[in-house]
Amino acid sequence: MQVSLSQIQEAVSFIQSKTNTKPEVGIILGTGLGALVDDIEIEASISYSDIPNFPVSTVETHSGKLIFGKLSGKQIVAMQGRFHYYEGYNMQQVVMPVRVMRLLGIEKLFISNAAGGLNKGFETSDLMIIQDHINLFPENPLRGPNLDTFGGRFPDMWEAYDPKLIELAKEVAEEKGIDIKEGVYAGVPGPNLETPAEYRYLEKIGADAVGMSTIPENIAARHIDIPVFAVSVITDLCYPGKLKKVSIPDIIGAAMKAEPKMTEVFKGLLEKL
Ligand code: HPA
Repeated sequence: MQVSLSQIQEAVSFIQSKTNTKPEVGIILGTGLGALVDDIEIEASISYSDIPNFPVSTVETHSGKLIFGKLSGKQIVAMQGRFHYYEGYNMQQVVMPVRVMRLLGIEKLFISNAAGGLNKGFETSDLMIIQDHINLFPENPLRGPNLDTFGGRFPDMWEAYDPKLIELAKEVAEEKGIDIKEGVYAGVPGPNLETPAEYRYLEKIGADAVGMSTIPENIAARHIDIPVFAVSVITDLCYPGKLKKVSIPDIIGAAMKAEPKMTEVFKGLLEKL
């Protein structure tokens, strides 16, 4: 199912009928990383299930709301709960919120996710700024008739993650004494984790971390020319010597442990904008 411009506009009109706040920055929070919402001075909160044409989150660990308010003095909208391709949505549904947030006014997009660590220098609960990505999803959110309102047919992916935002985030991390890594994120469809051979392959092709999100939203944002800043929280180690059987509660636990650091980086970065 294609998501049409008029369906996106209908969702936007509904949201604008509930709140007149104009967000400058959109924030997408990953698995186990939703606590940043507690720091927002909330002005409006809208359940995904109330928004016309909006996909509804099926993952229990996500609560499924758009949250409008102020964080670090900036007007923001946060997605508490994102849509994963593995849940069964098509890519246009996965990225619909990015387009909605754009029509609501966002000028920058921040993303967090939980990811497996492939780089031997990484430890569990490390933060990794995404500097570039490798797209291994079998579907693309921009496939099909181009939505010219948002951008051109062949968006460029040079600087898919904004170098200025990366530099500012590194300054924030240094000022706050937070150790932060930087690397390449490989995006896979999931929902299974990878085999040991697949982890070795991903490391060989140049990935430092692997996860099941972020790339579709990044592509949709770059189509609209929105600068993106994204951070992976390393929830499990996937390189020889450290790779072992993991459970989803372990992954969520590691994400929650790192969440306060990630929130500090996002808040500090917002302050510097
Ligand atoms: N693989 C894919 N996605 C993930 C992983 C992983 O090892 N850890 C957290 N998300």
